Amino acid sequence: MNSTAAELGWPDLLPVPETMRAMVFHRFGPPKVLEQATIDAPRPRPGEVLVQVAAVGIGRLLDLTARAGNHPYAKIQPPHVLGADHAGVVAALGAGVDSVRVGERVAVFPAVACGSCAFCVEGREEVCPDLEVIGTHRPGAYAQYCAVPARNVHRVPQDIPASMAASLALVGAVAANQLTQAGLRPGQWVLVQGAASALGSTTAVYARHLGARIIATSRSAAKREALAAAGSELVLDATDPDFVNRVREATGGHGVDIAVDNLGDPAIWDATLDTLAHGGTVVTSGAFLGGKVQVDLRRLYSACHRIIGVRTGNTAAVNALWTEVEHGFRAVVDRTFPIARAADAHRYMEDDNNLGRVALTLGPGDWDA
Ligand SMILES: NC(=O)c1ccc[n+]([C@@H]2O[C@H](COP(=O)([O-])OP(=O)(O)OC[C@H]3O[C@@H](n4cnc5c(N)ncnc54)[C@H](OP(=O)(O)O)[C@@H]3O)[C@@H](O)[C@H]2O)c1
Ligand SMILES: [Zn+2]
Repeated sequence: MNSTAAELGWPDLLPVPETMRAMVFHRFGPPKVLEQATIDAPRPRPGEVLVQVAAVGIGRLLDLTARAGNHPYAKIQPPHVLGADHAGVVAALGAGVDSVRVGERVAVFPAVACGSCAFCVEGREEVCPDLEVIGTHRPGAYAQYCAVPARNVHRVPQDIPASMAASLALVGAVAANQLTQAGLRPGQWVLVQGAASALGSTTAVYARHLGARIIATSRSAAKREALAAAGSELVLDATDPDFVNRVREATGGHGVDIAVDNLGDPAIWDATLDTLAHGGTVVTSGAFLGGKVQVDLRRLYSACHRIIGVRTGNTAAVNALWTEVEHGFRAVVDRTFPIARAADAHRYMEDDNNLGRVALTLGPGDWDA
């Protein structure tokens, strides 16, 4: 039997009010700085869509680091509304928008490119020098409504819950782009460092969905057990002195064809490179643990290794993601919190409890929980 919209976390469409509820911070600091406020509801400008938000994902950099005041490159000015990757129902259309209709369920990819520079024209929007992120450079989706460019929304299949759609919206596209840029082919070995993270778990499951063989890492024994149960062939602690040997052994001496590292932890970087097969590729889309590492260029060129940076997804990756969702791919959703408990959700993630994406829900009653 098909689930109802309410069971899947998609709220009924309401008339757009003048003001709305939002989770705001007025100063940088610990999770408790997140507090509810009533602010003006946005209106969609030409080319934009107004989304009545149903669920929003929480990310290490875009939410935790930003709220603490430590975002490495964006200048955020409190009061600020966080919330990047989200899902909801189209509530209104700005002038000139005919790609979606009011009432449709959509997921929002949060990186907004200029659309007209040479990179954007080429379809490499992630390289756009003017890239902005919803919830970082513009008001986000910890709010009842969020106005976003129409080209950033993607229709969501009917059977997908709102929290899953929000959890797929960004990391699914990043994973798709990482694996495309790294040239993944079925049967290849893929190492994912920090495979319990929202992005790492998605990349691991996506690579497996595309036919790769996965080696996953986590510092936590409980998470390693869960990652093994979820289909990784080998699950290790990357700080284990025997880590490189174990990877070499599992791959018959070949090493991994692709190593994904979104952690940037100098303590495990050398081991990552030591596991790489001849001609292998390291791909990175994050470095919240520092990111300053050493590279032996002699080994890099003689083994034909590549290290590639993938800032985020792009239109092709978003389309590939949602095609694979139609073919059964799903992100790993750890759990949800009602928006009223956003601070608890941030604490939960700061304590490294999650395996997969943590999302906030914004259904009826979620502001009063
Ligand atoms: N470029 C993009 O568009 C994009 C999008 C999303 C995320 N990212 C990047 O991906 C990375 C992960 O973000 P996320 O939101 O997916 O993370 P997350 O869900 O918060 O997970 C982070 C994980 O890192 C692992 N970790 C290893 N060493 C750690 C340490 N010393 N301290 C804390 N955690 C440690 C932990 O896993 P264990 O406990 O299992 O070891 C932790 O669960 C970040 O660098 C982020 O910027 C990039
Ligand atoms: Zn551009």
